[in-house]
Amino acid sequence: MVLSTLATLESIDLQGKRVLLRCDLNVPLKDGVITDDGRIRASIPTIKYLLAQGAAVVITAHLGRPKGERKPELSLAPIAIRLSEALGSKVTFSDEIVNSAKAKGVKSGEVVLLENIRYENAETSKDEGERSALAKELASYADVFISDGFGAVHRKHASVYDVAKLLPHAAGYLVAAEIEVLKKLTQSPERPYGVVLGGAKVSDKIGVISNLLDKVNVLAIGGGMLFTFLAAQGKEIGKSLVETDLIPTVKELLSRAQELGVKILLPTDIIVAPEFSADATPTTVSADSIPADQMGLDIGPETAASFAAAISECKTVFWNGPMGVFEFPNFANGTKVVAQALTSVSGISVVGGGDSAAAVRKLGFKDSQFGYISTGGGASLEYLEGKELPGIVALN
Ligand code: 3PG
Repeated sequence: MVLSTLATLESIDLQGKRVLLRCDLNVPLKDGVITDDGRIRASIPTIKYLLAQGAAVVITAHLGRPKGERKPELSLAPIAIRLSEALGSKVTFSDEIVNSAKAKGVKSGEVVLLENIRYENAETSKDEGERSALAKELASYADVFISDGFGAVHRKHASVYDVAKLLPHAAGYLVAAEIEVLKKLTQSPERPYGVVLGGAKVSDKIGVISNLLDKVNVLAIGGGMLFTFLAAQGKEIGKSLVETDLIPTVKELLSRAQELGVKILLPTDIIVAPEFSADATPTTVSADSIPADQMGLDIGPETAASFAAAISECKTVFWNGPMGVFEFPNFANGTKVVAQALTSVSGISVVGGGDSAAAVRKLGFKDSQFGYISTGGGASLEYLEGKELPGIVALN
């Protein structure tokens, strides 16, 4: 991917301009309360810079996947309140997306946040004409487009991709910073280079594992996806999560890794429980003998220690995906130990993804303990897979 031509905020005249700003404000909510505001905080530097330039700012963003329906639980209204608090100045919320009187009337030094752009079917449409029509509506509010929603740049959506064709554009600070870090991981990373992957589904990670195999020195696998690896090795996995259709692909990956001499670290012990519940009784068992009536909910202590040891030997580490069900204290240890190990990497440590970022904060770590916490889950994985990101291509 050609990235050298990304226009920066400073390279574009923003003085007194009307700016359409794409942010990723897709934050986790529980019963209407924001549980991790990392993405909101990460959007602030660009907004502040725009306001300091005397720009009038209209922000467009999404929350969840409402698929063209006005689902009240996915309204950006609570996000506008938190954004305003983080910014320290007023953010006007516009219930309207197209034809918004508030967006049309925005003045220099003011911020308007439009309602969830995914309430509009056209945002995510496969039909370019439909997306363009919505992009035109958004572009009508502004003289300039600034793309700063890094977490969504892998989506070919109207507010991410099509709108960039209609207005002079540049990358915001967040997009520029994320790309800079990902470049460090892909263009001659300092070695040893280790990648730790977790999360529930192996299907989300096959592409990145396959692309990274000949680039990394160590690859550690945890999370729900590890059981598909154990199953591919012919092991009994009890009631654990498995993607049976991917067993042949995982077998191929394991033999390719062996040919390449890449160390794939798989768990040697697992914390199991009879059911998926916070109160379920945890037991540590060998990864070779998971009882048929139990399911794996975390990597075991021996595995966590060996992952931590491997991480501490690396100069570059990328981590995406929790090691276990960290939301339940009994099954949070693996994620905690891996996070702790990342905090003492002497080179660069990158925590990738909304879920992993939320996990480390929930477990009490501070952002400053890591080299970089990416706001993009899918976006950073697709970048590491070597895929073109439409929202970045559009800026070139
Ligand atoms: C994310 O949460 O990774 C981004 O906000 C993108 O959301 P999406 O996967 O629903 O497109």
